[in-house]
Formats: sequence, structure tokens, C-alpha cells
Amino acid sequence: MPSVRPDAPADGPLLDTFGRVARDLRVSVTDRCNLRCTYCMPAEGLPWLPKPQMLTDAELVRLVGILVGLGVRQVRLTGGEPLLRRSLVDVVAGIAALTPRPMIAMTTNGVGLDRLAAPLAAAGLDRVNVSLDTIDRDEFVALTRRDRLADVEAGLKAAADAGLAPVKVNAVAMRGVNDGDVADLLSWCIDRGYELRFIEQMPLDAQHTWRAGAMVTADEIEQRLTERFTLTPVAGRGSAPAERFLVDGGPASVGIIASVSRPFCGECDRVRLTADGQLRNCLFANSEANLRDPLRAGATDAEIVAVIRAEMWRKGAGHGIGTPGFHQPDRPMSAIGG
Ligand code: 5AD
Ligand code: SF4
Repeated sequence: MPSVRPDAPADGPLLDTFGRVARDLRVSVTDRCNLRCTYCMPAEGLPWLPKPQMLTDAELVRLVGILVGLGVRQVRLTGGEPLLRRSLVDVVAGIAALTPRPMIAMTTNGVGLDRLAAPLAAAGLDRVNVSLDTIDRDEFVALTRRDRLADVEAGLKAAADAGLAPVKVNAVAMRGVNDGDVADLLSWCIDRGYELRFIEQMPLDAQHTWRAGAMVTADEIEQRLTERFTLTPVAGRGSAPAERFLVDGGPASVGIIASVSRPFCGECDRVRLTADGQLRNCLFANSEANLRDPLRAGATDAEIVAVIRAEMWRKGAGHGIGTPGFHQPDRPMSAIGG
């Protein structure tokens, strides 16, 4: 007998059929980037979205406002590289003016943050995560294909000075490139008061070169860190993706995000909006709901809410990486938003 699935609820929180509630919105404000991390993009870059397809600031803030009205409490700006959107400070100010005001965070590669941290903080940005995979200049160049390590260091410092605390650092370990130096990166971050989190590499690269066997697993990272530090697990993770450990008894800590080897999809509270106004219920979703076109055709908030609720109702149980039916999303991470 075919199962009958009821329609999405018409009111209340933003639910999916597994009872999860979306509270955390990731907004990709541009798909462009000034680095070319090998696990993300080819050296020549990607065909970027044409400007007319991208949401304007007013459109973006209106959609975020509708999602805040549906219960979103944290908005994370991502890219590509979000700092490349020239109007980013205005976007932050627009989101900070919403009621209720959401927490506003940003994931950035840090290039240009030395100049922008203070104006962004003044506009209402609360926190940053800076992606930095190594503090070895040659490895940095090998990984990002750009000689910009000094800019990232300056960006991190400016973020801390601007009070964007706690400053977090995200790192992806690549076998044979930086996996031997994860303990050095941790020491470096602890010395400067940055909270480091390692993320397992996921199959989201534009080139589709990801292979399960080549991934540096969370267990491997933990083992390598244990060679130099004593790690004590911290309880009470909630829906946070990172498993946290106190380093040498604390107060410093390190996070490890085992997205692939120990998925946390059952606790997911995330929803995503791309720079061209497509709502995604998952990083790995194979469908998107176009919010931009109805918006431009004059849809009311209630009409857009109905599209959003229906798309969240389609959210799958999990990413299914490693299962036979897994299909890598057509768009790469840089176009979806991390
Ligand atoms: N797997 C895991 N993390 C990734 N990032 C980019 N591509 C991948 C991937 N394939 C990271 C970036 C950044 C954040 C947005 O996600 O390094 O920290
Ligand atoms: Fe740019 Fe981030 Fe992709 Fe690196 S991982 S190329 S910083 S979007």
C-alpha cells in the first residue's frame, strides 16, 4: 500500500517529517572565491553566477526576514567567500535590524578580514569562523593555490580585536598534505586564543574527486592530536556538529566534526539559502526550491512561506554518504554555502 504523507504544517515551527526543526540558516552571499582550495575548486575557478541571477540585498534580507519569522534564530553568512560581496556590511546591518534579531555569524577564508572585521562587527556581526588548514606557508600555497597565509593571520587578529569572539578556526585535513601537522595547528590556535575545529572532508568538491578511503577521519585526527595533547571529551553537544575535547585539562578546547564517519543528521537544525535565492533543506539535497522567481513575480510573504514549508517537508533523513544510492549534489559547496 502506498504510504500517504500528510502535507507540511501550515503554522508552527519549520518542521520536517522526522520532527526536526530548522533554527539555523546558512546564507551563501556569493559563489565567488579568491582562493582555490584543492578540495573545493579547480585551479581555474568555476563559472560564477551572473549578477542578475543573484539576490539583491533587499531580496536577501526579505527572505532572511521571512525565515526568521518561521523560527530561524541564527544566520550564518557563507560563500564562496562572503567578504567578496561588496555590500556585505549592508547585508549584515539589514539582518541585524530584523525582529527578533537573529545571532549573526560568518564563515570566511579570512582574506580581507583585516579591513572588514571592525565595520562588520559595528554593523551587527556577532561571530566568525575562519577557514585555515595549515600554518605552514608552503602547505597553505599547495592547498589554496594562493600565497595568502599572512592575510589570513591578519584577518584572524582583526576579528579578535573587533570582539568577534570566540574566534573559531575551521580546518580540513588532507592526506599527505597537512595531516601530519594537525597538532602544530592546534598549538598555534591555542597560543592565540582561537578555537580550532577539524572537519572531515565531504564529497562536495566541484571536481568530484572525493574518495572515502582517502579522507582523513575524525578518529585519525583525534589520534594524531593525542600524540601531543591530552584530550578529554566535553559532554552536552546538543545539535552542534562538533565533538569537543578539553586540551590538556582546559580551558582550551578543540572540536572534531565527523560529518562523514559519524553523521549527525538526526540532530540537524539547518536550512540553506543560495546566492541565487534557492532554498536547500540539506547540503546534500538533490532538490532546491526557487524563492527568487516568486519573489520577483510579486509573491506575498505567505506564498513564500508555503514554498519554504513544502521544501523543508521534503528533507531526507540523512546525507547517505557511503550508501549505494548516494548522489553527490550537482552544485559544489562553494555555490551551496558551507
Ligand atoms: N568538505 C568539508 N569541508 C569543506 N569545506 C569546503 N569544502 C569542504 C569539503 N568538501 C570547508 C571550508 C570552510 C567551510 C565552509 O567548509 O574549509 O571551512
Ligand atoms: Fe574558497 Fe572556501 Fe572553496 Fe577554499 S573552500 S576555495 S576558501 S570557497
